[in-house]
Formats: sequence, C-alpha cells, structure tokens
Amino acid sequence: MLTGKKTLVVGGAGFVGSNLVKRLLLEDPEQVIVVDNLLSADISQVPMDKRVSFHHASITEDPVLYRLPNDLDYVFHLATFHGNQSSMADPLADHQNNTLTSLKLFDRLKDFPNLKKVVYASAGCTVAKKTFEDTTATTEDSDVSLYLDSPYQISKIIGEFYGNYYFMRHDLPIVKARFQNVYGPGEILGAGDWRGTVNTIWRNVTPTFIFKALHEEALPVENQGIATRDFIHVDDIVSGLIACATHGELGGVYNLASGEETSILELANLINKVTKNPTPIAMSPARSWDRSGKRFGDPSKAKQEIDFECTVAFKEGLAQTIAWYKENMDLMKSCMRQHYRYAPDLDQYGIMGYE
Ligand SMILES: NC(=O)c1ccc[n+]([C@@H]2O[C@H](COP(=O)([O-])OP(=O)(O)OC[C@H]3O[C@@H](n4cnc5c(N)ncnc54)[C@H](O)[C@@H]3O)[C@@H](O)[C@H]2O)c1
Repeated sequence: MLTGKKTLVVGGAGFVGSNLVKRLLLEDPEQVIVVDNLLSADISQVPMDKRVSFHHASITEDPVLYRLPNDLDYVFHLATFHGNQSSMADPLADHQNNTLTSLKLFDRLKDFPNLKKVVYASAGCTVAKKTFEDTTATTEDSDVSLYLDSPYQISKIIGEFYGNYYFMRHDLPIVKARFQNVYGPGEILGAGDWRGTVNTIWRNVTPTFIFKALHEEALPVENQGIATRDFIHVDDIVSGLIACATHGELGGVYNLASGEETSILELANLINKVTKNPTPIAMSPARSWDRSGKRFGDPSKAKQEIDFECTVAFKEGLAQTIAWYKENMDLMKSCMRQHYRYAPDLDQYGIMGYE
C-alpha cells in the first residue's frame, strides 16, 4: 500500500525512524522525505538513496513546514526530545522538540488533501500505572494519571491530545501508536547533541547494558532489578507503524507491545550470558523519580484490529542486537566521544577527548 507513495518521516534519522525509512524503501515509494535536526541521531543512519530527501532542520521551523509538499500520502511523526532524564534536565528543550513539534506539524498538515494517515509515536510509559507491585497489561483505554513523572511523558500525551483535537476539528487522519521499550540495531549511544545528563550517552537500558557487558563491566542494576519492561524489537515496531498506517482506524490508538514482562535483572543476566561477561552485576538504589516500576502493554487490540503482532523472540532479537553492537562499536564510540568533556570517564573504554 505504500508503493509509489510520498511519505514524510519526522525524526527519520533516529533509532526507530531510520529503521522505518529503510523498510519504507523496500516498498518502492515515490519519495521519502526525512526532516530531522539530529538532536539525538547520527546522520550515518539515513540511507543514501535517491528516493530519500533529507532535511537537517527542526520540524518547528516555519520555512521547513511551508516547503513540505502538500500532496503527501503518509506522515510518521517520531520526533522527540529523547528521554525522561533529558526532559527533566531541560524541560523547555523538551517542550520545543517534543510538544511544539506535534502542534506545529499537525496544524500544517490539517489541510493537506491527499493524506491517508498521520502516525504519531506515543509512549506506553505515559499511560502505564505507576507501581512497583504486580500489575496488569496496560490497555489502550487505561486511565492516564494527571501526575506524570517527567516532561517527556507529559509531552508524549499532549501529542495525543493535539492529534485528537485535529482529528475531531479538522479530520486529520491521525493514528496513535503507543510503543513499549524498543531495542535493536541502530540505537546509537551518544548520538546527537548533549542533552544535559549522561543519559545522552547511556540512553536506554538495553544498549547501555550491551555496551558495558561487551567491555566486561559490572551491569548497574537498580532496586534489585525488580522493575519490569515490555521489550519489543525495532523490526516489530516498524511493522506496527506500517500496520497503523495501512489498517489503523482514523483517530484510533494501538499499543505496539509484545505483552511479555521481562525484569531488569533477567535482562542483565541474559546480556551477561550472551556476551560472556565475567563481571558480576552491581546493585544500586532505586531511581527517585521513576514510579513506573512494572509495566507491559496489552497487544490484543492491535492483533484484532490491525493484524499486528510481534514476531521477533526476545532472546533471538537480543543476540542479533548484540552482534550489531559488536560490528558497529567504532561508530558508537565516535558518537560517544563527542560528549567527552561532559563525561571524561569514557576514557575507561579507550574513548579519548580531542587534542
Ligand atoms: N525507543 C523507545 O523505546 C520508545 C518508547 C516509547 C516511545 N518512543 C517514541 O518513538 C519515537 C522514536 O524514538 P527513538 O527511540 O527512535 O528516539 P530517537 O531519539 O532515536 O529519535 C527521535 C528523533 O527525533 C529527532 N528530533 C528531535 N527533535 C526534532 C525536531 N524538533 N525536529 C525534527 N526532528 C527532531 C532526533 O534527532 C531523533 O532523530 C519518539 O517519538 C519516542 O518518544 C520510543
């Protein structure tokens, strides 16, 4: 269905975005337009292909918005100010790149006549119940707390609110995809600009653990590793985004989730096993801000309504991701090196500052 179509991917240089662009190219599109300010991405991930046109800019810039061709068929909006911790360190930058992006994009798109779908990347962490007790899978109609843990979580749900408003008022063909924790090839530690904390480098639990395990370092596990997450391979997320674009109900929302809970302790043990890391895990106290201890998504609505379900088994996906990290270690280190002045302890990995 995407064959011969003109598609915009906002945030298309990022982890999920670049994997999506690569998949879209397999569908023989007319054109894939990528707008990305490289705030948390590395340009190397954008495929060199004559059907891809890359614009290094923020989607909030008026000239960029007004130069978008108004005969777009599909839009995937994946731009974000990456990560909960970054958003707490700089809430205004989060607003600029996570909330304003959605508002300005949707406002610009509202009159595009050919649009079939606008797929918005939302986040399961916003909706999940804030608990460390045993919990049930989050469904699409679960209540959303008004007391969220970070500006990031607030921005992600505001994106849904704006999407719903533009759908109701202007018939914007929005579909919201709520991701659980994505892992897989293409997530580059340290990609992009410094965003206020070391989580610019250590940007998610899976790549952080893989990198440290490959360096035979103790994996830092907080709060005895009791927190749980629903890990979903990036290939599955890409399939889910395309299913939202092709089969999603206008105005609808779908969990993109495996439905399986994995504890952080299990994750650490699995990664240590596959990488043959001989160093024991290092336990540390719980993060004070994070109340979203145990969470996983209910995948049943997406299965029933858009025929989406995960196909990559976690153990195989993790082994394949570890292999990708080994192959791309030099790229990773060159991205991490950009932040050396904020994180001189990177020299323990042989990453040295510039002369
Ligand atoms: N990865 C996950 O586990 C996960 C989970 C839940 C939701 N999500 C959502 O999925 C989307 C993709 O996440 P990701 O993991 O690929 O993150 P990412 O940081 O790799 O990708 C986000 C991209 O947005 C770009 N960007 C930031 N501000 C921009 C702006 N103003 N204009 C244009 N581009 C801009 C960044 O440079 C980056 O390429 C995000 O919206 C994120 O909130 C991701």
